[in-house]
Amino acid sequence: MIKRNIMIPIILAAFVTAIYACSPNENTVKEQVENNFPNYTESANETKTLLDSKCMVCHGIKESQDEMLAPPFAHIQKKYSKVSSSKESFIESFVDFTLNPNEDQAMMFGALKQFNLMPNLGFERTEVEKIALYVYENEFPEPKWCN
Ligand code: HEC
Repeated sequence: MIKRNIMIPIILAAFVTAIYACSPNENTVKEQVENNFPNYTESANETKTLLDSKCMVCHGIKESQDEMLAPPFAHIQKKYSKVSSSKESFIESFVDFTLNPNEDQAMMFGALKQFNLMPNLGFERTEVEKIALYVYENEFPEPKWCN
C-alpha cells in the first residue's frame, strides 16, 4: 500500500515531464503558422473563434446536403463578392443583413427559399464587422457534394 502511494506521484511526474518535453516551443509554432499562412494574425484567429461559436451552428457544413440549415460561408462569400463593387460595400451589406435579416436586403434567394429567412439573433455590430472582414479575406471550404 505504502509503495503504491509513493509510485503515483513518481508516475505523474514522469508523464508531465514527457508532455513538456514533447511540446515544441510556442514561438516556433507561431512563426511556422505565420510563414505558411501570410494572412494569419492573432486577431483573425480570435474572429475565427467568434464565427465558429456564433454562426457555424447553422452555417457549418454538415455530412449531407439535407442536414444543412443555412448556406455555407463559401457560397455567401461568392454571392456577396459578385454583387459588391468594393470591400467596403461587401462588408456593409453583410453587416446590415446579419444585424437585421430581412427579405428586402437578402441576396441569396435560393437559400431564402430553401431555409427561410435567417432569424435576428441580436449580434453585436463590432463582432459582426470583424466577422464580415474575416469572411471577405479568407477562403472557406466548399461542401463535398458541390462540385
Ligand atoms: C439559427 C441559424 C443561423 C445562425 C446562428 C446564423 N445564420 Fe446566417 N443564415 C441563416 C439562414 C437560414 C440563412 C439563409 C436564408 C437567408 O438568406 O436569410 C442565412 C443567411 C445568411 C447570410 C446571407 C443572407 C442573404 O440572403 O443575403 C449572411 C450574410 C449570414 N447568414 C450571416 C450570418 C452570420 C455572420 C452569422 C453569425 C454571426 C450567422 N449568419 C448566424 C441562419 C443562421
